[in-house]
Parts: sequence; C-alpha cells; structure tokens
Amino acid sequence: MKNICVIGSLNMDLVVKVNDRPKGGQTVIGGDFKEVPGGKGANQAVAMARLGGKVNMIGKVGRDGFGDTLLNALKNDNVNTEYINKEDIATGVAMITVDKNAENSIVVAPGANFKVDTDYIDKSINGIKDSDIVVLQLETPIDTINYALKKSKELGKYTILNPAPAVKLDDEIIANVDLLTPNETELEILSGVEIKTEDDIKKASQIMIDKGVKELIVTLGSKGSLYINKESSMFKKAYKVNAIDTTAAGDSYTGALAVAFANGKNIEEAMDFASKVGALSVQKEGAQSSLPTLLDVQNFRG
Ligand code: RIB
Repeated sequence: MKNICVIGSLNMDLVVKVNDRPKGGQTVIGGDFKEVPGGKGANQAVAMARLGGKVNMIGKVGRDGFGDTLLNALKNDNVNTEYINKEDIATGVAMITVDKNAENSIVVAPGANFKVDTDYIDKSINGIKDSDIVVLQLETPIDTINYALKKSKELGKYTILNPAPAVKLDDEIIANVDLLTPNETELEILSGVEIKTEDDIKKASQIMIDKGVKELIVTLGSKGSLYINKESSMFKKAYKVNAIDTTAAGDSYTGALAVAFANGKNIEEAMDFASKVGALSVQKEGAQSSLPTLLDVQNFRG
C-alpha cells in the first residue's frame, strides 16, 4: 500500500436542507441547521482513510472551536494531522443548502485555508516526501497549488488534481498534473469548450492533455464517469441509487481513486471502486458524515 498526501482545505459545513434552493433576492424557510466537518481536502483525506488509505494531510485551521472539531474529526479517522497548523484567523466555513433533488449550493469563506502558502509547503515537505501520491483541490491559494504540484513532480510523485471549485488555470499548473478529475462543468471552465455531448468531453479533455495532463477521469454524476488519455477512453456506468445529498460525492470519488491506485489497482478497477464509493456517499447526508468505510463498499450490492 502506497502513502497518499492530501494538500487542501478544511471547512466546517453549515448546512440547511430546503425544498428548493433560493433564487437571487429570495428567502426560503429550510429544515434543521447542522454543523458537519467538511472541506474538499479534508473530505478526500477522510474518504481515503476510511477506505484503508494511509494519509498525510497538509492544511491549516483557525485557533477556534471549529478548528479543534475538524482536527479531531481527522484524527478519529486516522488521518496523520502533524502537517496541519493553526493560525490566528477563522477556520474555513462553508454555507451549504441541499434541495429535495439532493443538489447543493455552496459558498466558502476560506479563512485559514488561504494561509496555506508556499513557505508552508516547504515546512511540510516531509508529508509529500513520505507519500507516493499527492492529491490537491482548488480551495487553497492557486500559487500554493502551483508550487506544491511542481515540488511533488520534482520528487517523482504521482499527482492528482480535483479541480474544484473550478477556475481557469495557467498551463504551468496543468503541466504538473498526472490525473485530473473534473466534473463536466469544471472541465468546461478549464478547457473553454462548451460541453453538451461525449465528443465535447473528449475534445475538452484533449485540450488538457495537450497542455500536459497525462489522463483524466471526468465525473458525470448519475450517468457515470469517463476515462480519457492520449490514446483511448473508457466509460463506466454509475450504480443506480436513491440520492439524498450529493455533498462530497466528488470528494469521495477522487479519494477512492487515490486509494485504489495506492493499492495497485488498474484504471477500470479504480473507477468501479470509486463509483461504488460515490454511490454510497450520496445516500447519506453531509460531507464527512456521508463517507463510507471499506466494509460498506465490500457489502455494497449495486
Ligand atoms: O465538496 C464538498 C465540500 O465543498 C464541502 O464539504 C464544503 O466544505 C466545500 O468545501
């Protein structure tokens, strides 16, 4: 089993369920309010650890109650937190509404996550050195992500970038990504190609490959996922389940892929494993509260 390093965000999710998410200027009455540990980085780290992965996480929280809760959540799931520091600033927070169709809207106040700078990557470099696979998202500063990817490649690591929340990225960043795991909207933003068909996905992916990405797995929600490299592509149908909350589904999927690769699985096996994990995660509410264990996956009958 190879080690994995996650460099990314930790947020406390402030969640309310609603029938329909509010439109601009609209107020709606929702259900009970919940605080759930989240943040794309931490969700991916916890997903990996619950699936049996050995995980170092590099990130920052504030010196406050949310920070303590998020750190304890990672420790309880056996994520190595020695590379998570506290700063005199608020812990990252995400305001989330989840509607009756299991879809969400999220606004993130990054707080301490934006204090993860290039110096901090240097200070935490042993977390990268000690790992074979390095996984990043886009909830920490872009300069830091660029630097961390470059360092990881110099150290010979396999890099995975889950480009969420999507922004246009410089070619320099893209060139250091081995595996990119966007959804369709994220791929559209990254590539500039409007996506309506499978051919559009292939065209957009090719643009990313031309910029240096080795391979992509594009997640297509309840339809499935599509693997694409320079020579070939492969579609994997999603498992049909009754989704109640899609928060962290993408995180669970990327986390599961990393664990499968750490265990020496091939692309097809990894995609099947990650599809099961995603299918389990959407059947439970919340971010880290929805992430399955390896036993859950073994017992899953799709
Ligand atoms: O991907 C889901 C996550 O996005 C939430 O946990 C929230 O914190 C935001 O980062």
